[in-house]
Amino acid sequence: MLAAIATLTDRLQQALVSAFGPELADADPVLVPASKPEFGDYQANGAMALAKRLKNKPRAIAEQIVARLEVGDLCEPPEIAGPGFINLRLRPAYLEAQLKVLQRDERLGVAPVQDPHKAIVDFSSPNIAKEMHVGHLRSTIIGDSIARVLEFMGHDVLRLNHVGDWGTQFGMLITHLQDVCPAALADDSQVDIGDLVAFYKQAKQRFDEDEDFKGRSREAVVGLQAGDATARAAWQVLCDQSRQAFQKIYDRLDICLTERGESFYNPLLPTVVADLEQQGLLVEDQGARVVFLEGFTNKDGDPLPLIVQKSDGGFNYATTDLAAIRYRTQQDGAERVLYVVDAGQANHFAQVFQVAARAGWVPTGVELTHVPFGVVQGEDGKKFKTRSGETVRLQDLLDEAVKRARADLESRIQAEGRNETEAFIAQVAEIVGLGAVKYADLSQNRTSNYIFSYDKMLALQGNTAPYLLYAYVRVQGISRKGGIDFTQLGDNAAIHLEDDSEFALAKHILQLDEVVNEVAQDLLPNRLCQYLFELSQKFNQFYDRCAVLQAAEPQRTSRLMVCDLTARTLKLGLSLLGIAVLERM
Ligand code: ARG
Repeated sequence: MLAAIATLTDRLQQALVSAFGPELADADPVLVPASKPEFGDYQANGAMALAKRLKNKPRAIAEQIVARLEVGDLCEPPEIAGPGFINLRLRPAYLEAQLKVLQRDERLGVAPVQDPHKAIVDFSSPNIAKEMHVGHLRSTIIGDSIARVLEFMGHDVLRLNHVGDWGTQFGMLITHLQDVCPAALADDSQVDIGDLVAFYKQAKQRFDEDEDFKGRSREAVVGLQAGDATARAAWQVLCDQSRQAFQKIYDRLDICLTERGESFYNPLLPTVVADLEQQGLLVEDQGARVVFLEGFTNKDGDPLPLIVQKSDGGFNYATTDLAAIRYRTQQDGAERVLYVVDAGQANHFAQVFQVAARAGWVPTGVELTHVPFGVVQGEDGKKFKTRSGETVRLQDLLDEAVKRARADLESRIQAEGRNETEAFIAQVAEIVGLGAVKYADLSQNRTSNYIFSYDKMLALQGNTAPYLLYAYVRVQGISRKGGIDFTQLGDNAAIHLEDDSEFALAKHILQLDEVVNEVAQDLLPNRLCQYLFELSQKFNQFYDRCAVLQAAEPQRTSRLMVCDLTARTLKLGLSLLGIAVLERM
């Protein structure tokens, strides 16, 4: 494999460190983007901090560094400004040559990592028979994007759906199913429970009102856990029903997941508890079996327990997650496990990670990370609900976004007097609607709460999917109008940058590798969104100022290549967010 190409910032950083020399190897060059365009592209502010240590003026130090600095292939001769800032300006020839490199590179300069690891992304993870709600949608969208970025970087990623398919609620669900739909157990292709959530509500109501039902439900739980065939069959029917509903959403959103629900770990739970006991971590506390946590205390300052086996002998969510950690590190060989789960579960993960570490189930070098996100709020700032106060069904939410995208599109078509087929309208509405939902979520820093607004996410202006898609469409429009095949522009054709807006666009295109690397590190897809938004803005500025099809050669071909690079960068970047592009909209 080719050695990973260092990013531009890495190269400048290395050149500065070399210029500092071995005696200052520990000093930080403080390389940052230039604060103003007139200072160039980057500045190195490290000389200031060295004045005291070297007993010399910062400016003189900066001069010595510059004298030894070898960046001639990348930058114009460095300039020293003010008290001792070193200003670096990229050479046009360097930028032009780099763009040519990208033109031939499918990955647009983003080199795969040299040391790929095995990563698990635990995301989506809805609960059977409970509605998959907007929180699960966030996890699904963010988790998918993180998985896509890691996969693109060359890591071996296992995408796991830790479905909530086990627990005491199944007792009443199974019993209710046996009562109202016994045929389902004989032939599960017959069954259509329809709305499982309504089914769950009915079961719950009977459980609360009917003593006999309650008793039978309890027996069903015991039967299920003991592997009783009828209980198992009923449970299977319920899971299949949910699975089909979830799968529809995943297909629609183009999301791949391997289901490995809580039930998968059920046979492993007794060993988890036995092992904790063997290691002397387990304590009996009011009939339950617990591990006392370090650093978690109640209001009296006493350590909090993590319950791993309830007094009735049952296991819980935490026990299952402990078993999952063990399985993932030992059987799957995961080196990094990411849990894309709402911030409300931060304590749960901190506690479970701690116990797993103390039990020795987290080998050195293995990283378990909770990747939290905030709650979805309505435009009123309250938890996102329907008008009647119910949780919003995901299917309805996606339908609504697509419906509105369609209405926008139809009015635009009419205003522009265009003539479009139903197939075109349906396809554009679906891609814009779903892309808008995904992008609206991903473009927020995931750790903050996020306000759901159809109007904002579907707007053609601003940091939205339609704005980005439109920039892509603009480039495709140039190709159609000029009869240009971007792949045939020629290996020998040179890129020559002229206008300021063209330089700004070129420099931005060349930063994709740094941004994707950052996202792989910090797991913040909003940085990629911001980058793509700025790319679209810079493209629009360039396109407003510079003639492309009307320009004379060789400028025309050069600009066409810059347009194509912009579109390819948008397409690749959007694909890492799980968003498709359109040729026309
Ligand atoms: N099913 C859980 C919920 O809806 C999320 C599971 C997250 N993953 C995990 N390994 N705990 O809250």
